[in-house]
Amino acid sequence: PLKIILDGDPGLDDAVAWLLALASPEVAVLGITATHGNVGLPLTVRNAGITLALAGEAGAGVPYFAGADRPLVAELVSAASVHGDSGLPASDLPTPTRPPESEHAADFIIRTVREHPNEVTLVATGPLTNLALAFRLAPDLVPLVQEVIWMGGSTTGGNRTPAAEFNAVADPHAAHIVFESGVPLRMVGLNATMQCIADPDRIAALRGLGNRAGAVCAELLTFYAGVYRERYGLSGGALHDPLAVGAAIRPDLLDWQAMRVAIEVQEGLNFGRTVCDLYGVTGEPANARVAVGVRDGAFFALLLDRIGTLP
Ligand code: BDR
Ligand code: CA
Repeated sequence: PLKIILDGDPGLDDAVAWLLALASPEVAVLGITATHGNVGLPLTVRNAGITLALAGEAGAGVPYFAGADRPLVAELVSAASVHGDSGLPASDLPTPTRPPESEHAADFIIRTVREHPNEVTLVATGPLTNLALAFRLAPDLVPLVQEVIWMGGSTTGGNRTPAAEFNAVADPHAAHIVFESGVPLRMVGLNATMQCIADPDRIAALRGLGNRAGAVCAELLTFYAGVYRERYGLSGGALHDPLAVGAAIRPDLLDWQAMRVAIEVQEGLNFGRTVCDLYGVTGEPANARVAVGVRDGAFFALLLDRIGTLP
């Protein structure tokens, strides 16, 4: 299996994404690193522990780590209005079976990538602060990373500002460091993820699995659907972060286009925008493969199947 580290800010779609990864034999989760983002770091760390507990056996041996509690330069933002004050708006949640490790998330990433040179994929579903810290602390790291897969940005508009997606604008300087690092990178942005909607039929299918993980996913996605209905007039919430994990498990579920992506770090209207050179007008070499299409039905079938294997 592909060795991966899951970095994110649960956040309800991060939790669903992590359950998908933990339940999938194509990937081996070496650890989970939490960052600031949807809610504050103490909660994202707690939610990491809860998500591992929800996965039962599949989460039992997986260590988790606290990372950055704020962006490198920008102001701290949150998305508690989308994910609930706790980040995991569900009633029947287990308590973590053990505490987080004391090692910092960035140190864990550095140590693990060095231990498995050219074998570790970093699947990031939040602001890129922990990855940027690791790349700056260990300049030898980038050539040793197999790949970064990031849910963030967009080839089109944003969801936090008209120009910027949440994970990008929550730490644009970190995104800039990662995108300019030369690391092999795939970007799964809003242009792809907004096509994967957890509508009432899908939520019912998750609930119908009859297991606790399915019930919790259904409850989280029901809360999320309320937000998306109200804000965007959509029938459910977008499966942003699960699609990034889907890209690690089954790259063929998406269509990819190599291009130059620059991150706007100047404050102003476009702060945090992922400026995607779709038509190659800059003549600069590509630094990312960007998801430009998705087989949504096959992706959801995979998600449903895998959540069904959990307790
Ligand atoms: C991203 O922002 C967060 O709120 C979600 O968890 C996802 O990672 C979507 O823009
Ligand atoms: Ca997230």
